[in-house]
Amino acid sequence: MRVLITGSTGLLGCALQAQAGADRQLYGVFHPARALPKALRAAQRPADVTSAGAMREVFAWAKPDVVIHAAAIGSVDFAEKNRAQTHAVNVGGTTVVAACCKDFGARLIYISSNAVFDGTQPLYSETDPVSPINYYGELKVAAEQIAATCGVPYAIVRPILLYGWPYPDERGNLVTTWVKALREHQRQSVVDNVYSKPLPAQACAAAVWEIVNRNCSGTYHVAGADHVSLHQFALAVAAAFELDPALIQAVPDSFFPQLAPRPRDTSFDTSKMERDLGLQPVSLTSGLGQMKAGA
Ligand SMILES: NC(=O)c1ccc[n+]([C@@H]2O[C@H](COP(=O)([O-])OP(=O)(O)OC[C@H]3O[C@@H](n4cnc5c(N)ncnc54)[C@H](OP(=O)(O)O)[C@@H]3O)[C@@H](O)[C@H]2O)c1
Repeated sequence: MRVLITGSTGLLGCALQAQAGADRQLYGVFHPARALPKALRAAQRPADVTSAGAMREVFAWAKPDVVIHAAAIGSVDFAEKNRAQTHAVNVGGTTVVAACCKDFGARLIYISSNAVFDGTQPLYSETDPVSPINYYGELKVAAEQIAATCGVPYAIVRPILLYGWPYPDERGNLVTTWVKALREHQRQSVVDNVYSKPLPAQACAAAVWEIVNRNCSGTYHVAGADHVSLHQFALAVAAAFELDPALIQAVPDSFFPQLAPRPRDTSFDTSKMERDLGLQPVSLTSGLGQMKAGA
């Protein structure tokens, strides 16, 4: 099976390559502003996902049976302030990828987000109506619609708060931010009234591959096992990395008025993932332990 991964140097893109079965022929698309990535498993080509011409060339090269569309602008705050650019990538790019899937006969796995929900009624299952409260979430809803109506077999994967070691110079995540700051003995203010079920990127990748391998369609929620406030998450990180928890101060989300609105608790019900994909959610102890060990 030939699989094309967009966003191949991103956190999830790298984890997808690390978790792929040996019989998968992998092709990756990375942002053209980057140098040719090294030490990744997929054959790699640069292309901007918003360019129909460049992406058609990529599809003609990779001849994918399946496309995992993980390229996106992932910063909620950047999206809020840079709406046209984020729309072009997150919605326009999905339109281009979906059209290529149709023309080249590929299945589409679209990577969406927990941000499609307003966070007032956890735990969210796949049948709950979407209700985004920030621009990033609105664009994820729009892109899901494109995936669902473009006329190819599709699945939508909604990961929640991802963590793991990023590819060099790629976007960090809460765990890498906290580990770096605590190692430098910097105090961290972390909100204690926003909740999540943090998810190792490797576990998310494993779920995506089950969806590919089992030919699943429809929507899948993917999350970790522990339902925690971000403050509790930061304390778990300090414990796992043997760093000083006294540097972590609990604050309410109103402490960061400059940030885009965040849903309070979009945590997922993972029973569909467990039943259909045969996967157990990964605990913080296990996920952070593997990260500390370098995986
Ligand atoms: N991280 C999370 O907590 C989380 C949670 C829920 C859902 N998601 C979704 O999961 C997916 C993967 O997330 P991630 O954390 O792996 O994100 P990431 O690390 O930021 O990776 C996204 C990749 O997309 C690339 N990209 C951006 N614009 C592009 C363009 N115009 N053309 C080609 N490539 C482009 C980026 O390249 P550059 O870095 O070079 O720009 C980056 O390599 C995204 O759709 C994200 O919205 C993430």
